[in-house]
Amino acid sequence: EIPSLYKVLKNDFLVGAAVNPMTLNSQKEFIVKHFNSLTSENNMKFENLQPEEGNFTFDHADDLVAFAKHNEMNVRGHTLVWHNQTPDWVFDNKNGGITDRQTLLERMKNHIVTVMERYKGQINSWDVVNEAIADNGTQLLRDSKWKQIIGDDFIDKAFEFAHMADPGAELFYNDYNESDPEKREKIYTMTKGLIERGVPIHGIGLQAHWNLSNPSLDHIREAIERYASLGLKLHITEMDVSVFSFEDKRTDLKAPTAEMAAEQTQRYKNLFELLREYSDVISSVTFWGVADNYTWLDDFPVRGRKNWPLLFDRDLKPKQSFWEVVDL
Ligand code: G3I
Repeated sequence: EIPSLYKVLKNDFLVGAAVNPMTLNSQKEFIVKHFNSLTSENNMKFENLQPEEGNFTFDHADDLVAFAKHNEMNVRGHTLVWHNQTPDWVFDNKNGGITDRQTLLERMKNHIVTVMERYKGQINSWDVVNEAIADNGTQLLRDSKWKQIIGDDFIDKAFEFAHMADPGAELFYNDYNESDPEKREKIYTMTKGLIERGVPIHGIGLQAHWNLSNPSLDHIREAIERYASLGLKLHITEMDVSVFSFEDKRTDLKAPTAEMAAEQTQRYKNLFELLREYSDVISSVTFWGVADNYTWLDDFPVRGRKNWPLLFDRDLKPKQSFWEVVDL
């Protein structure tokens, strides 16, 4: 008998999966059995929800929200303001040049308010701003069009609009490489600034795109403690454990090697031991996918290379990693 993943962990945190129309429609029962939270992998992004100005396309997002409601699942909204997957029209003016601060703020507000009001009471937490921090160097913010056109306060504005649109929603800042000490300090500094200015932010999303050895358990622990020291809620928002190191560009493997599989099992055990220690501050853990039959990592960083980063294999069978997690 295979236990339900979320039921085993229900005293610790919600357990979520990112889904897309293909995975959701083909694996409904399986998803309902193991997860009690859903994130849309792509269909709540700006380019999907508002491909042209004022022309909102909610079909896939509505389907996900209705499915979650029907099955009494939580939904995380992902994501409102990001430098990626945002259509060009957002940043352009009618004459083909770039738009001005005031116009972009109005477009940001209109998008946030339209989307959040639609799902009021059904989406309780939103990744309001995604990946705004610069990866390397001393610069705090990534040099995005949001920043170039509006200025550094685009983050404050996004959270203010979001809070106005749905005062009951929990508002998150979400980022990757979140456990890297240098980037962690930048994320900490930026969010601390928001809090000090009275901007309505309630949580930090740790994406947790990890691999077999990086980041170290110590760095993950330090990141959790540092962010939690701000008094914010933490969500693990996009967890996966790639079997490849950053340097490994192999494309020939048809399955993980026995060594990779064993390392992944141990890694998942260690990671969940650690996350469960912090279940008072971490209220939700979402995997960036359902099972190894489909993962965004199949295309990253090498297009078309298979990866096996999740707890269930390509046939939706629990991997040894799953058994370690549920037996902890
Ligand atoms: O929809 C088109 C399709 O029409 C076309 O035929 C196909 C050809 O390549 O591309 C399709 O678009 C792809 C889209 O996913 C939907 O499948 C894009 O090329 C592809 O780039 C896009 O990738 C997504 C990526 O975000 C883009 O930024 C991944 O699925 C999605 O998993 C990934 O998710 C992000 C989080 O939102 C933020 N954190 C990092 C995470 C992983 O990159």
